[in-house]
Amino acid sequence: MTHQNLLTVAREFDSPVYVYDSNKIESQYKRLSNAFKGVKQLKINYAVKALSNISVLKLLNTLGAGLDTVSIQEVRLGLEAGASPDQIIYTPNGVSLEEIETAAKLGVQINIDNLSILEQFGTKHPTIPVCIRINPHVMAGGNTNISVGHIDSKFGISIHQLPHIRRIVENTGMHINGIHMHTGSDILDIDVFLYASEILFDTATHFKHLDFIDFGSGFKVPYKEGDIETNIEELGKKLTKRFNEFCKSYGKELTLAFEPGKFLVSEAGFFLAKVNVVKQTTSTVFAQVDSGFNHLIRPMLYGSQHEIVNISNPKGRERFYSVVGYICETDTFANNRRITEISEGDILAFKNAGAYCFTMASNYNSRYRPAEILWHNDQAHVIRKRETFEDLTRNQVLIEL
Ligand SMILES: Cc1ncc(COP(=O)(O)O)c(C=O)c1O
Repeated sequence: MTHQNLLTVAREFDSPVYVYDSNKIESQYKRLSNAFKGVKQLKINYAVKALSNISVLKLLNTLGAGLDTVSIQEVRLGLEAGASPDQIIYTPNGVSLEEIETAAKLGVQINIDNLSILEQFGTKHPTIPVCIRINPHVMAGGNTNISVGHIDSKFGISIHQLPHIRRIVENTGMHINGIHMHTGSDILDIDVFLYASEILFDTATHFKHLDFIDFGSGFKVPYKEGDIETNIEELGKKLTKRFNEFCKSYGKELTLAFEPGKFLVSEAGFFLAKVNVVKQTTSTVFAQVDSGFNHLIRPMLYGSQHEIVNISNPKGRERFYSVVGYICETDTFANNRRITEISEGDILAFKNAGAYCFTMASNYNSRYRPAEILWHNDQAHVIRKRETFEDLTRNQVLIEL
């Protein structure tokens, strides 16, 4: 998408607004598929949590992706978007047995990540195929909040509990059709990922009726020019070789599954906000935009550095700014950032705003959540309307006092 396209969207739909480029989503999907073209059966299940708008789910499903979901609501969104139940995997953490049973009734692939539920589910529903989420105890991921496969993590069943898993499977007679891991987001070291994969292969040999092995995700995408990213092509080559070898020794052609969120949608997204105030202080120049961590919490939550471009003055002289929001707490998007000269009324584009941005937005300060636009076939399509005052009051009850 060009700066001009983005400005057109801001003019037409006002700010703040999220914009997603369907071409970029498609090219990322193809890039990942291509990196693993040597695998006979590849399944890319898009992690719905990253960006759950039903039009985006439909787009990915049309491209051939399945969906990876973490809540019954995400399952329902996937079905609403047109995915069939057998294209959806449900990987919750710490949810009730009842929610898992509801998902099973809808016909989606169940993935269980604790022994208690495994035993209960297997006892009640031995014929429903289940995938098991293993915690390989590997430290991967770019930040402690997004490293989920290590020893202290709440996710998955510890690899050291394999004897207990096997005991439950034997005693209940349940059918294990998949093995899964997700070590964490923003993986920098492919060798760590491959090391964790070996643990998964080893685990897989203990289950004789598998259909797939799911390697989760965590592929790091670049946030600015020259930024490090997971080398998908190299990972593709190395893991494909190992996976095909494994299938041979296992005696069956298994499906290799992934569940990427960021890789597919992060770079496709732009968050557009308007500068309300340029405020000089003794120490800096603040550019204050018509948003805050209510709409984009990642910089405050885990220090994400979203590149910010002044699309109203892209060729101007660069100066240093602190870009902040309008809410009643510190909501710094960027400190000491070089940005082309900013005037009040300018539109700033925050890059990498496709993943974990809108889905983490809230109504804090009783602000409306932004509209979402899909840029598809060179045209802007509204895929979520901006909220209105009625949305804020819809579920509130004004009582007689
Ligand atoms: C189980 C699971 N799978 C997939 C993902 C997607 O990860 P990413 O967006 O880094 O691709 C996550 C992210 O939290 C996850 O928890």
